[in-house]
Amino acid sequence: MNQKQGPIGVFDSGYGGLTILEDVRKQLPQLDYLYLGDNARAPYGNRSFDMVYEFTRQAVLYLYEQGCPLVILACNTASAKALRTIQQVDLPTLDPDFRVLGILRPTVEVIDSLTKSRHVGLVGTPGTVVSGSYPIEIHKLFPDILLTAEACPMWVPLVENGEYDSEGAAYFVRKNLTHLFEQDPEIDTLVLGCTHYPLLMSQIKRFVPKQVKIVSQGNYVAASLKDYLHRHSDIAERCTMGGSCHFLTTESEYKFEESASLFVKRNVKASHIHLG
Ligand code: DGL
Repeated sequence: MNQKQGPIGVFDSGYGGLTILEDVRKQLPQLDYLYLGDNARAPYGNRSFDMVYEFTRQAVLYLYEQGCPLVILACNTASAKALRTIQQVDLPTLDPDFRVLGILRPTVEVIDSLTKSRHVGLVGTPGTVVSGSYPIEIHKLFPDILLTAEACPMWVPLVENGEYDSEGAAYFVRKNLTHLFEQDPEIDTLVLGCTHYPLLMSQIKRFVPKQVKIVSQGNYVAASLKDYLHRHSDIAERCTMGGSCHFLTTESEYKFEESASLFVKRNVKASHIHLG
């Protein structure tokens, strides 16, 4: 049985997972992390199930080969479209001691304590919304919650291109949120179901009614991972503790370093890798 020891792998299609990584590192600073952004093939949001599964599988295998005992899919699109198949089909034959976790479940678990009206809104990529994974997970736990989802195809490209404070971003954010709240004015909790969206927070706040709670995933995912490691000492013991963080990208490392520093507000060093 393979008992790998190494950093926690954090995967996203691009830069969005950095928002999750930042919050995870705040709560678990002692651990080592290896971040992989598939920037060359991002965004995933408009891609088919098969493509998202195949790309995510390649990334997970790569992180496994680097020695990660555990990988977090810090991407809603990958969590919605690829996680279950990877867990059920790939992991049992690859290595039953290797773990891959997603970020939908930790997000869904907190909704119950936040909504009073039981009307919840979700914004996400077309892939996440069309997959239906959020309503499925929510209704498993809280069948009385009414979820209204809005696909926002332009938000990730705006963020990936550094346009999150522009008037162009304001136009698309207003358009999608107006449509969402027209469909259900009783929404009192809005889930940002995409790891890129915290970067649009100042725009989102402009167009969301004041009383609505905005759920950004990072802190909840971090708390859930902390709890998971607490409950699974066999996995926790295989996560190395040097406090380091390395970055991998399928795009140019220079481009990644320039853009990533906008997400994490400090300089990062990245290495280029090829997937597929
Ligand atoms: N950041 C990813 C998510 O949370 C998706 C971005 C993309 O479309 O690639 O859904």
